[in-house]
Amino acid sequence: MRYYIQFPAGTGELVAESIGSYVDRPDVVYADDSSMIFESDTRRSRVEQMPFVKNSFTVIADVLRRDLDWSVEALADTVYDGGLDGYADTFRVMFHVDGELVSVGRRARGELESAIAAASGQRMVGRGLGEEYWAVGRTDFDRLMLCRRHMRPGRAAKAAGAISHELSSLLVAASRPRREDVFLDPFAGSGSFTNARLSFPAKRIVYSDSELERLRGDFPEAVREGGIEFLADDALTLPSIGDGEVDVIVTDPPWGEYGELPMALPEFLDAMARSFDRVLDREHGRFVVLVARMVADEAERALTNRGLAIGSAHEVLVNGHPATVLVGGREAA
Ligand SMILES: C[S@@+](CC[C@H](N)C(=O)[O-])C[C@H]1O[C@@H](n2cnc3c(N)ncnc32)[C@H](O)[C@@H]1O
Repeated sequence: MRYYIQFPAGTGELVAESIGSYVDRPDVVYADDSSMIFESDTRRSRVEQMPFVKNSFTVIADVLRRDLDWSVEALADTVYDGGLDGYADTFRVMFHVDGELVSVGRRARGELESAIAAASGQRMVGRGLGEEYWAVGRTDFDRLMLCRRHMRPGRAAKAAGAISHELSSLLVAASRPRREDVFLDPFAGSGSFTNARLSFPAKRIVYSDSELERLRGDFPEAVREGGIEFLADDALTLPSIGDGEVDVIVTDPPWGEYGELPMALPEFLDAMARSFDRVLDREHGRFVVLVARMVADEAERALTNRGLAIGSAHEVLVNGHPATVLVGGREAA
């Protein structure tokens, strides 16, 4: 089966590293920084469960990408041949080319819609619920695909400033979770990372934020009920945590904007790195730290000065703001 997935911009390398935990032997046909097309024997239900994916699709057909109307008409021809078994009574069609929704000529659109209606027995509707078929073209990929969008499980709304489910899952996956891990997020905020870490077995999952009492009321249910330990420690000293007690830190320290830091940024980052160095396992400690891109070099310097080596850095966007993910550890995998 051929699948098409969309994920947060800039996380292509992280997705490529993590996808094997969810999909059997993915054979990647195309990848860019926010999407991937791959072949796999994995069932669609497994693909639908990948937590870092925003949208996933089964590819039904593909044709050479030329003039858009020509390619859409060619897709319509392939659908007549195929036969589709839709799961809803109604459907609609979207055209998503080079990252944006586009319109196509009436004739081409009509041919594709009629072809889908004939092949699936579904009724075309302009909007609303129902099955979504997407004609998708990606820059530098020479095929136009017809895809069926998967119905992914709904997710609880996020608190303002919280990191998305998709990015949180990716950062947790990048930390290479192990069942014997003591996991810590010392700047845990709304609990996005501790919550994402619940999907993998762990010895302990520790949330800490100096503003715990204020934030607690807005926690999603899973964070309140799911076997997480809560602390309100200052991340720069972590008095409740012993030396070397933590295997892995995944965190998103304050971005240093709007005077939210009690000291100059380099001083803050140095104190943070000193604190991480003290609590992380001396031999195998790992970390994934998300910082504003502007301060990435400074953060990298602070961490490496404490013997916390950077294995890889990934440029991502967080709610449109440039950010960098630093992945590393004592041994910098
Ligand atoms: C960028 S936010 C983290 C957001 C979080 N990743 C989320 O998705 O909700 C940084 C958090 O660090 C907390 N914080 C700031 N300084 C701290 C300190 N010295 N010790 C502990 N927590 C601190 C803030 O209260 C804030 O919740």
